[in-house]
Amino acid sequence: MKNKIIDLLDQTIEELDKEKIADILEIPPKEDMGDFAFPCFQLAKVFRKAPNMIAQEIAEKIPQSENLSKVAAMGPYVNFYVNKEIYVKEVLNKIGSDYGASDEGNGKTICIDYSSPNVAKNFHVGHLRTTIIGNSLYHIFDKLGYKVERINHLGDWGTQFGKLIVAYKKWGSKEAVEEKGIPELLELYVRFHKEAEKDDSLNDQAREWFVKMEQGDKEALEIWEWFKDISLIEYKRIYKILNVDFDHYTGESFYRDKTAAVVQELKEKGLLEESEGAKIVNLEKYDMAPCLVTKKDGSSIYATRDLAAIFYRKNTYHFDKCIYVTGLEQKLHFAQVFKVVELMGYEWAKDQLIHVPYGLVSLEGGKLSTRNGNIIYAEDILKESVSKIREIIAEKNPDLKDKEDVAQKVGIGAIIFNDLYNQRIKDVTFTWEKIHSFDGETGPYVQYTYARAASVLRKTGISEVGEIDASLITDDTSVALLKEIERFPEVVKTAAQRLEPSVVSRYVMAVAQAFNRFYHENQCNVEDENLMKARVKLVLIAKQVIKDALDLLGIQCPEQM
Ligand code: ARG
Repeated sequence: MKNKIIDLLDQTIEELDKEKIADILEIPPKEDMGDFAFPCFQLAKVFRKAPNMIAQEIAEKIPQSENLSKVAAMGPYVNFYVNKEIYVKEVLNKIGSDYGASDEGNGKTICIDYSSPNVAKNFHVGHLRTTIIGNSLYHIFDKLGYKVERINHLGDWGTQFGKLIVAYKKWGSKEAVEEKGIPELLELYVRFHKEAEKDDSLNDQAREWFVKMEQGDKEALEIWEWFKDISLIEYKRIYKILNVDFDHYTGESFYRDKTAAVVQELKEKGLLEESEGAKIVNLEKYDMAPCLVTKKDGSSIYATRDLAAIFYRKNTYHFDKCIYVTGLEQKLHFAQVFKVVELMGYEWAKDQLIHVPYGLVSLEGGKLSTRNGNIIYAEDILKESVSKIREIIAEKNPDLKDKEDVAQKVGIGAIIFNDLYNQRIKDVTFTWEKIHSFDGETGPYVQYTYARAASVLRKTGISEVGEIDASLITDDTSVALLKEIERFPEVVKTAAQRLEPSVVSRYVMAVAQAFNRFYHENQCNVEDENLMKARVKLVLIAKQVIKDALDLLGIQCPEQM
């Protein structure tokens, strides 16, 4: 419809080209102002006339068209009222089973580096955000036809493992680690730091153990591998709860034999400088602190391994884009690393390496139940959310079928939705009441809307509708709902362009709200069979688009709530 109106305007106004017209054409804020509005301010200069008069003239000159029921000037605007019946038909025709999908990404590969917790440390709320955002970006790019490589860049290498081995050998036991897992490893790590304050020789021992690891010492690597396995069990439990997956668990340790080549190349290209025994790349010219490449003792660091990872991924996956989802505090790190790659002569670093930062998350009032001191485990938050929803179900709908499954989907959905509802760079604070509310801007509200649509369909007993009489669903709330549904493909593209799942979450909220308005105005279970079919058709596609949009966020929806 928009294109048809642009065509009509183009025929009428010689002074503007199509692109310009498309640019100016607006969607008016109120229903009674029509479906599209063309503001005439910009033409005032060209015609040397008041915009109101220009609007009047254009409205009179627009050729008759079956697609429009009315064209009228309103102040400085030309308002277009589309023929609703034709519009409804047109939208219904467009919407197939894979509405929203596209082939724009065919033949292109995107690497997404997300989640990436640090072995032997707790998976905290920040890691929850990277996991949720990264997973949503995966679904969004997948929908657009890209090949996506989901990479978990585990923090599984570095001097901290030397410390952990020392602590384990001194104060740990196999049983305690097996039984308690990460909290025990964390405790050993904390103890190491306390004791090392009194006894500096512990630090030397830790360094020695890490050197052993780097040299491939069997005992050192066995203990390290075991810590890693223990940690992965816990992380994978969380991924299962969140329904998140990875194609590669290639952590920092994966690059330990790949850093030397990068350091060598940096040296050959004359980029390395000495600084107090360490090797750095000077980035003063770019207003950045130097990028540390190797430490005094020659060992690699976080940045070195990220450099090696970039070249490995480029050569292995041939990515068109490599995206990193981490907290904002790593902004400088990625800016430095990307700059170094560019300075090495790889022009693609400029637009193919992308850091996707996000803000902090916290609970209002700070009351999160924790296992252990003030350390917050993401898993506890997820479980708490589910258990609170379980209580709500027990109170409000104790006879619900598949109660436990619903509690899982809604409890987890509430957390994910809240996480993705605002621009990712914004900090997230929440209260349980707010994110679990069934009538706010929440996951449960959208899921409830979905279940409501499912229930309408169950009541009518219809699960498929062929041709319908479009003239039966031209009322305001039906058309408003269709307008929202129609936007889906644009929404997916915009979300991908901006690397911003909130574009999708805002959208699905708008669809749910439009659906509920439609639902209150239009009874579906009516005598008139044609009318029932027409309305059910709308319910079916609304239900489908809500499901597809929630899928993009990584949220599952129960059929009954
Ligand atoms: N392990 C890091 C952390 O927990 C995140 C790693 C992000 N990815 C990367 N390639 N540096 O903060």
